[in-house]
Formats: sequence, C-alpha cells, structure tokens
Amino acid sequence: MNVILLGAPGAGKGTISKHLVDNYSMVQISTGDILRNEVKNKTDLGVKAKSFMDSGELVPDDVILGIIENRIKEDDCSQGFIMDGFPRTIAQAEGFDQLLKRNDLVIDAIIELDAPDELLIKRLTSRRTCSNTKCQAIYNILYQPPKKEGVCDKCSSELIQRSDETEETIKHRLKTYYEKTQPLIDYYNSGSNYHKVKADLPLAEINASVDSILK
Ligand code: AP5
Repeated sequence: MNVILLGAPGAGKGTISKHLVDNYSMVQISTGDILRNEVKNKTDLGVKAKSFMDSGELVPDDVILGIIENRIKEDDCSQGFIMDGFPRTIAQAEGFDQLLKRNDLVIDAIIELDAPDELLIKRLTSRRTCSNTKCQAIYNILYQPPKKEGVCDKCSSELIQRSDETEETIKHRLKTYYEKTQPLIDYYNSGSNYHKVKADLPLAEINASVDSILK
C-alpha cells in the first residue's frame, strides 16, 4: 500500500507515519528528515537546503523531485511507502504523477490531516525530536513526554528542538503551507482515494480513523 500524508506543519504527519510503519510494514519517506540529515552531514545538498529550511521556505522543486526519484527506486519501497511532507507544491505533485506512471506505481490513499493553526503552533513549540538520525522518535513535552526529561525512551539519545521551531519560523512555515501546499487539496480531492481526517483529536482516535481508511 502506498500513502500520501498531507497536512500543515504540526498536523501529525510524522507521528501518524510511525503508527503506519509499526502496523503496516510500510517505509516512511520524510523529505524533511532526508533534508535534515543532509544538513547535519554538511553535504552540498544540505548546505543548499539549510537557508530555505531555517527561514520556513520550501526547498526548490527540482531538488526535492530528484531526492524522491532516487529514494522510490530503493528495494524497501516495494513493501509500500508513506510520503510524509511530499508533495508540497503543484509542480511536485505533477512531477510525482509522472514518476509514479514511469514506475508503474499507484497511490492507494491520500490522507489530509486537518487541525487549527493555534493547535499547530502549540504542538510545534513543545515538540522534541530524538537527535539520533536512525531513530528520530517524536515527543511532545505537553502531550507525549518522554519517561525521562530530554532523553529518548527508545534509544537513550538526547532530545532536541529543531532549528525551524521558533515561533517566528513556525508562523512563516504555516504561511508557506497555505500559499504553496494547500492548493494540493483541490488537486487531489476529487479522487476516490482522498480522505480528510480531523487531526485535533487524541492520537488513538486519529490512528483509528486512519486504520479504517486503510483496512
Ligand atoms: P518537514 O520536516 O516535513 O516539516 P513539516 O511538514 O513542517 O511538518 P512537521 O515535521 O513540523 O510536522 P508533522 O506534521 O510531521 O507533525 P509531528 O507528527 O511532528 O519539513 C521541514 C522543512 O523541510 C520545510 O519547512 C521545508 O523547508 C523543507 N521541506 C521538506 N519537505 C519538502 C518538500 N517536499 N518540498 C520543499 N521543501 C521541503 O507532530 C508535531 C507535534 O505534535 C509532535 O510533538 C507530536 O508529538 C505532537 N502531536 C502530533 N499529533 C498529536 C495529537 N493527535 N495529539 C497530541 N499531540 C500530537
């Protein structure tokens, strides 16, 4: 099964992806995680991406489409993938449609996670992420705190705040979302595989809604 998760920053794409990875053996493809890894390793791509990410702007479409084209050909994607944070513009969606066609792939479900801005800002300013790039577990000091403050329950690495998690950058990311990514809802929502899920609910209820779509 192949799934696209659509939604504003903080809607819960990464959190729901972990549920899908654990319960459906799909692989998570997070363009944000891939880019942060490149930034951490100071690759040419990372150096190019950093200023866009830190200011809350999108990384150029051709760069992102190149990343996805390579990633989707890796063997583990044959078990099904979750696109977390891609596509994010109409140009990316059109490029992805062609890529899917070329590789004889279909998307089984496009799931939009919907939550109000005030909640998104609250969630993002209180998020903590595992610094271990192989783990990247997501926590929240208000809603899903780790057992020990500042330490990942799964791998004991340090928990960090992302560099794009200041309130100012979060507001800019939301603006970018409404300008560039929200038009994708009209692009996709006429298809029978499109589903909108209320994402301002307890996690168990959101997971159950997603499960009922995928069953
Ligand atoms: P990316 O990493 O994709 O960030 P994002 O889309 O802004 O989304 P987030 O990861 O911030 O939020 P999320 O929806 O995954 O929420 P989460 O599950 O963590 O992108 C970062 C940057 O990279 C972009 O700004 C851009 O520059 C670049 N980029 C990436 N992809 C790109 C692309 N395709 N094109 C161009 N540029 C690209 O949840 C948030 C918090 O809320 C967590 O603390 C979680 O514990 C908590 N939470 C979640 N759900 C619930 C719930 N139901 N109840 C209580 N708490 C909850």
